[in-house]
Amino acid sequence: MTTEDLEFGKIAALRQRLLDWYGVCRRDLPWRWSRDPYAIWVSEIMLQQTRVAVVVERYKAFLQRFPTLLALALAPEQEVLAMWSGLGYYRRARMLHKAARFVADRLKGNLPATAEELRVLPGIGAYTAAAIASIAHGERIAVVDGNVERVLCRMEGWDAEGREGGAALKRKIDALAAQLLDPLRPGDFNQALMELGATVCLPHKPLCLTCPLTADCATRGEHKTAPRPRMLSREIARALCVRNLSPAHGDPKQDVAEVLLERRPVELTVMPGMWELPALREAAVAERELVMTVRHAIMQVNYYVRVCSVSEEDVETLTMVGGERRWVSLGEAAQTALTGLTRKVLARAHLLPAPLDGALARRPDKT
Ligand code: ADE
Repeated sequence: MTTEDLEFGKIAALRQRLLDWYGVCRRDLPWRWSRDPYAIWVSEIMLQQTRVAVVVERYKAFLQRFPTLLALALAPEQEVLAMWSGLGYYRRARMLHKAARFVADRLKGNLPATAEELRVLPGIGAYTAAAIASIAHGERIAVVDGNVERVLCRMEGWDAEGREGGAALKRKIDALAAQLLDPLRPGDFNQALMELGATVCLPHKPLCLTCPLTADCATRGEHKTAPRPRMLSREIARALCVRNLSPAHGDPKQDVAEVLLERRPVELTVMPGMWELPALREAAVAERELVMTVRHAIMQVNYYVRVCSVSEEDVETLTMVGGERRWVSLGEAAQTALTGLTRKVLARAHLLPAPLDGALARRPDKT
């Protein structure tokens, strides 16, 4: 089927098949029970680059803590980052927070309703604006994410890896998405196409036998998919430095263990201002007591992390100071904006509660 062939009857049938499939097969996800634009905004930002299984639990906790845009706008940034822990890509949380403050301060707390106006806000691009406007307000605007691009390219037999320029192909995809969009149920249609890409039209093993669009599909499983990007490996070492304050200093029932944390400089582009375990000097690693090794993926890099126990007396000589340091009680650490790796290590050492479902297994790609 080519774009020219998509006359009205065929498009109407395709929409119906896709929406029927979505009605029956869609995953029961918490944001799908809401038409609140703020809640949908939060979910769409979280879903960028993070798996649905991880987002589900973090989304519920985030909305419980910040149930409204105003609650988010009034919160300190460190608390917002702490609630984002496990989702990674913290810039998203900072931009969401900044945008919430902008709306609270300049727009009297009213989140704009159209995609065009939403795009003016920090961190809201074409994709997010279209998702919020179509799902929450029924605006007739197509949402095109990576999943939708894959579905449409396969349907049309367009070679996403081919010689055709990226921008020209993108324009064709956008035009087709706009043409197919169901004008009566744009939010559902957009979500259905994304859902199809996430659960059926999979990058490497598409489940064509269960696809509602096989009749419309030019490739039906015969397709080219870009190879997965090669992951790089890096080895690093961190110091786990825990001290127990004597109960004699206070109530023996109180939480008396403290962990030494270091703040990443705020000028960094990656996770600025977040708290982590101090870095061990290379030479110190072999001699120290290994507590655990952890693999942690950040974007295209697999970090193999050796975590060694270091006493309070040795910490100055065995670690490299990279920023402000602080002894933090375990109770306070749980509420602190920790990096995902730090939270993972502290949880595995049973010093913090385990991150919620799936957060330990975060992958850089999303489905
Ligand atoms: N991916 C991102 N947002 C989505 C949504 N609302 N439905 C399905 N997949 C998505």
